[in-house]
Amino acid sequence: MQRETPVPAVHDSPTAVKNPASGQHAVRFENVSLMFRSRRSASPVEALHEVSFDVGEREFCAIVGPSGCGKSTLLNLVAGLTPPSSGSIQVHGRPVTGLIPDIGYVTQDSNLLPWLTVDENIRLPLQIRKMPAEEQDERVDKWIELVGLGGFRDNYPHQLSGGMQKRCSIARTLVYDPPILLMDEPFGALDAMTKAVMQDTLLDLWDSHQKTVLFVTHDLSEALTLADRVIVMSARPGRVKAAAQVDIPRPRDVFHISELREFAEQHRVLWDMFAAEIATGGLSK
Ligand SMILES: Nc1ncnc2c1ncn2[C@@H]1O[C@H](COP(=O)(O)OP(=O)(O)OP(=O)(O)O)[C@@H](O)[C@H]1O
Ligand SMILES: [Mg+2]
Repeated sequence: MQRETPVPAVHDSPTAVKNPASGQHAVRFENVSLMFRSRRSASPVEALHEVSFDVGEREFCAIVGPSGCGKSTLLNLVAGLTPPSSGSIQVHGRPVTGLIPDIGYVTQDSNLLPWLTVDENIRLPLQIRKMPAEEQDERVDKWIELVGLGGFRDNYPHQLSGGMQKRCSIARTLVYDPPILLMDEPFGALDAMTKAVMQDTLLDLWDSHQKTVLFVTHDLSEALTLADRVIVMSARPGRVKAAAQVDIPRPRDVFHISELREFAEQHRVLWDMFAAEIATGGLSK
C-alpha cells in the first residue's frame, strides 16, 4: 500500500511566524528592520524589512534565501554585532544590546587568527574562559579529532586548505559548548563526504547537548536534512516569506535521508518557493 506523502506545513505569513512546537523562545525577532547607510553612497540599503519570528528553545532552525537577502545580517543582529534600525531582538527573553558570550558564532568567513596554530585557535575561547588546563587539553583533542585535523594541530591557517580552515573554525566554536549556535553556511566549502560527516556530527551534538541552532544555508537539501523548521526569506529587503515545518522523523540518517519520499516532496515545495524569490531579483546584491 502506498503511503501518502506528508506535505510540509507552510505558513505563508510575511510578518509573524511562531514555532508551534515550542513554548519558550530562545531567540525572538520582533519587527526587525535594518538600513545600511554609507558615507560613499547616497542611497541607504534596506537589508531587512520588519522581520518577526521566534526560534524555540532547542529548536534547529534553518534560514534559506537568495544571496544578499540579509541572512548573515540576521545572525549578526543576534550576536550583537549590529544593532537594528528598528524593532528588537531578544535572546532568552532579554533584549540584545551587545555581544553575548553564551552564543557561538561560526561566521561565513573562517576568521582564524593567522598567528595561532590550529591547536591554539581552537584553545583560545577556553583560555578566555579560564578553563583548567587539563579540561582544555581534553576538549581541544576531542574537537581536533572530530573535525579531522589530527595531523595538522601545529599548522598555521595559511598552511590549511579552505575546507580545513572552515573545520578549524567550527571546532573553535563548538569546543566551548555554547547553548545557542549561529552557523552561517558552515559546511559550504567542504567536499560532499566531509560535509555529510560534519552534518552527522552536528546532529549528534545537537541531540545530546540540547542546543538551539540558527543555521544559514543556500542548500535546501542541507536545510531539510538538519532542521526542525526552515525559514524562507524573500529577496532583499529580506522578509520572512514562509516557514516550513520539516516532517521527517528523528534520528535522521544524513547519508540516506535524500532517498526518503517525504524528503523529495518537501524539497520540491521548498524549491518552488526559493526559485520564485530568485526569479524576483534575489541574485542581486
Ligand atoms: N556593513 C554593510 N554595509 C552596507 N551594506 C551591507 C553591509 N552588510 C551587508 N550589507 C548589504 O546588506 C544586504 C544583505 O547582506 P547579507 O550579507 O546579510 O546577505 P546574505 O543573505 O548573507 O547573502 P549571501 O547569501 O550572499 O551570504 C546586501 O545587499 C549587502 O550588500
Ligand atoms: Mg551571508
